[in-house]
Amino acid sequence: MKISIIGSGYVGIVTGIGFAELNNEVIFVDVDENKVDLINSGKPPIYEKGLEELMQKNKERYYATMDYDEAIMNTEVTFVCVGTPSKEDGSIDLKYVESASKAIGKVLANKKDFHIVVVKSTVIPGTTEDVVKPIIEKKSGKKAFEDFGLAMNPEFLREGSAVNDFFNPDRIVIGVKDERTKSILEELYKPLNCPKLVTDIKTAEMIKYASNAFLATKISFANEIGNICKKLGIDVYNVFKGVGLDHRINPAFFKAGIGFGGSCFPKDVKALIRKAEELGEEPKILKAVIEVNERQPLKLIELLKKHIPNLRGKKIGVLGLAFKPDTDDIRESRAIPIVEALLREGVEIIAYDPKAIDNFRKLFPQIEYASSAEDVIAKSDAVLIVTEWNEFEKLNYNGKIVVDGRRVEKAMREAKIYEGVCW
Ligand code: UDX
Repeated sequence: MKISIIGSGYVGIVTGIGFAELNNEVIFVDVDENKVDLINSGKPPIYEKGLEELMQKNKERYYATMDYDEAIMNTEVTFVCVGTPSKEDGSIDLKYVESASKAIGKVLANKKDFHIVVVKSTVIPGTTEDVVKPIIEKKSGKKAFEDFGLAMNPEFLREGSAVNDFFNPDRIVIGVKDERTKSILEELYKPLNCPKLVTDIKTAEMIKYASNAFLATKISFANEIGNICKKLGIDVYNVFKGVGLDHRINPAFFKAGIGFGGSCFPKDVKALIRKAEELGEEPKILKAVIEVNERQPLKLIELLKKHIPNLRGKKIGVLGLAFKPDTDDIRESRAIPIVEALLREGVEIIAYDPKAIDNFRKLFPQIEYASSAEDVIAKSDAVLIVTEWNEFEKLNYNGKIVVDGRRVEKAMREAKIYEGVCW
């Protein structure tokens, strides 16, 4: 099949290269010339394990352009993969989805063949039919589900394992209305072996939000139980080992610690809260999920103060700045509120991360960055573990005060004084 991908960011590039590997021809579109050049030279615009190798392997099957017209005219299916950031009040900002829809509509006005538009960006239920559809219809003068196909197909890719997730999904959700679009999308996904759920469009949109909200809830729940366990002297990791053995519950995503970050969970849960409120529903659980998550990183500072009551002028090491290991992404990283709190306490900070220092420096140019994790250990009065990078399992923590937000076993065994946030 011939596929165009609008928005060559994280979701777009992984999805497009995945489709190329499945023998499709792919044209990427992006407004950023730099990204277009990178893709055309076979280089990924973001770091993701295994992506560069797949780009090299499939070089003949894709290219990138800034020209919507060229991409849409020469393909049969267009995936909209642009970002859906948050506005100040937490609600979803649809400006990129709207501008992509306008551009697609303008091209479709001149296209004779049936074309399918698939929204892959995470959008609040109702967006595809109430925002994307009218824009494309107005600009093209055509009718959705008759003159062109429209569908919603959420992504469930995790950063760091996105390529693997593309080829081995737990499920594929296809939200459609017209039969023609349904059968073409089923054909496209035929090579991937997993349950495929066909729903209406709004349901597909909601499945994505409900999935992310549930996973975020699992983490905040584990953290709340962990906070209680900490006070009782119980190891929450043993508790959830026992809890997870119940097949109705499942052991994944119960790692208690300093909470979730990243580009999806915080933004999506907040957007769902705003939408619920707009509808006159009070989302009590979702609000509590965010509240627990915002309080959780500060527990690290409370525990640190237990051992060093007056932090002013002390040198505190921060190990890990990325929102999770194996990425340079610092969006909503728990390191941000932790560093802010340390600065308020008048602390001198020395921080290290294997990949995320350059990104973090842009936010916090005033703190010191170490060239290695060993350097942080050597130069600090106490160490906070914020991201569970593998290499932190190899450090020598002997003689140190360590407050751990992510459970690094070696620190647990070796540190002179060790405090786990929930254990
Ligand atoms: C997530 C979803 O998993 C994915 O399906 C969706 O499409 C995009 O959002 P991602 O943001 O890449 O993926 O990260 P994920 O691995 O899910 O972790 C998110 C955050 O939760 C991280 O900050 C991580 O440290 C934290 N986390 C995860 C926990 O604190 N405990 C856990 O048990 C699991």
